[in-house]
Amino acid sequence: MGFIRDNLPKVASPSPPRMLYSLSLPLLLVSTCHAAALNSHHPTPHVIKLQSRVAPREATLRRRALNPTTVPLADFFLGTDLQWYGNISVGTPPQDISVVFDTGSSTLEFASTMCKSSCDNQVRFDQNKSSTFVDKKTTSSITFSTGVGVDPVIGENYRLELRAAEDTVTVGGLVAKNVALNLITSQTAKFAINPFSGIQGMSAQAEGFFAGLIAQGLPSLFSLYVTPNAIGGAELTVGGIDSSKFNGTLTYAPNSTPGTADWTLTSPMIAVNGKTTPLLRRSRDVFFDSGTSNILFSTDTTEAIYALISPNITAHASEPGTYGIACSLIPTLPAVIDLGFVDTNGKAFNLTIPSSELSVGPFADAPETCQTLINAFDGLELVGGSVLKHYYSVWDVGKQRIGFAAI
Ligand SMILES: *[C@@H]1O[C@H](CO)[C@@H](O)[C@H](O)[C@H]1NC(C)=O
Ligand SMILES: *[C@@H]1O[C@H](CO)[C@@H](O)[C@H](O)[C@H]1NC(C)=O
Ligand SMILES: *[C@@H]1O[C@H](CO)[C@@H](O)[C@H](O)[C@H]1NC(C)=O
Ligand SMILES: *[C@@H]1O[C@H](CO)[C@@H](O)[C@H](O)[C@H]1NC(C)=O
Ligand SMILES: *[C@@H]1O[C@H](CO)[C@@H](O)[C@H](O)[C@H]1NC(C)=O
Repeated sequence: MGFIRDNLPKVASPSPPRMLYSLSLPLLLVSTCHAAALNSHHPTPHVIKLQSRVAPREATLRRRALNPTTVPLADFFLGTDLQWYGNISVGTPPQDISVVFDTGSSTLEFASTMCKSSCDNQVRFDQNKSSTFVDKKTTSSITFSTGVGVDPVIGENYRLELRAAEDTVTVGGLVAKNVALNLITSQTAKFAINPFSGIQGMSAQAEGFFAGLIAQGLPSLFSLYVTPNAIGGAELTVGGIDSSKFNGTLTYAPNSTPGTADWTLTSPMIAVNGKTTPLLRRSRDVFFDSGTSNILFSTDTTEAIYALISPNITAHASEPGTYGIACSLIPTLPAVIDLGFVDTNGKAFNLTIPSSELSVGPFADAPETCQTLINAFDGLELVGGSVLKHYYSVWDVGKQRIGFAAI
């Protein structure tokens, strides 16, 4: 899961429901403020070789600065790479909780001992064992518009019931106190297969533990190295860049919705196997969501892309929004998708999805038909793991830009 669609506060309470969920609503984007100033006047983030024991120069100049830290990530792999998750710890003494670091959402939520049978497969946080836990008593719910797997989300099948709280959160050894968080008190059945307990939103506005660490002097950026399962070694670096993970330089593109929670880049062009069409040269804002594995494009864009790959890719009627092709045809099919973007200097660059991403595996109801990576979804254009795992990515909150280096 990754992208939040909706949040409906259920119980009025002394502390007002947090606004941030609704900022993630695509329809509200246009009305949110544009803090263009965020784009300038910030120093270049330091590039830190993490193996080095030498403190970055700037760290010694800023008395209270925190050094970056790296958290190893595990890959939730079910025939295809779905999500990457790692541990944070919550409470005093700390309880280890695994979360997806999700650039498509803003808040922290994880299973609690208040969640009964619907959370039986998850490690649950026990608030009674934390001396620093504060119950904020507000309840709310959150519904995601992208799910755990590769199937389209239908109705409210990815919905969490939440209770607000605060506690100490530790990430890679860095400690933030009084972090706003949400305990999951029940969840829809679709979450049960998750090997992790929750979600840490990593939106384009620093929130929660990340905001707490920035207040202590941590640089306001984080980096993701989300590798295919066969390669492993995935990691999140909070506050820095692990330059040991890529050769070459980072290309940065400006967030097209600065000042909002969303990570979006404007794409002027999509090409398939080097060819494009007028429809694919339409400018579009593409959401970058590390919590979603596949791709969502509008129906016309999806079909235009598939038409350039093979006429044999057809809609899979039993799961509206999905497409498929005989698995036997996949190995020979060229399906290189170039997503065009423009960097902060106005220069064009592509993020390239190799042919190996075309199949996300057979449909359960048609084992000889393989599902293809793009789902049609009108109203939201979004890329996730299938793009991000081919690049080292830097999510620069301070400068409102995303950097990419090929890996
Ligand atoms: C999270 O911590 C647990 C121990 O509490 C460990 O078994 C597990 O491997 C860790 N997961 C990740 C993804 O690092
Ligand atoms: C915390 O402890 C109290 C008192 O023992 C108990 O009633 C309550 O159910 C516990 N809460 C949770 C979330 O486990
Ligand atoms: C960088 O290039 C060197 C030399 O070609 C190679 O050995 C190394 O594996 C590369 N590192 C990464 C992270 O791609
Ligand atoms: C991006 O991809 C398109 C189509 O393959 C290609 O024509 C274009 O030259 C590429 N742009 C860059 C900057 O590499
Ligand atoms: C692929 O599509 C073409 C026509 O569009 C058809 O003739 C051919 O039989 C299809 N191949 C398979 C394996 O479905």
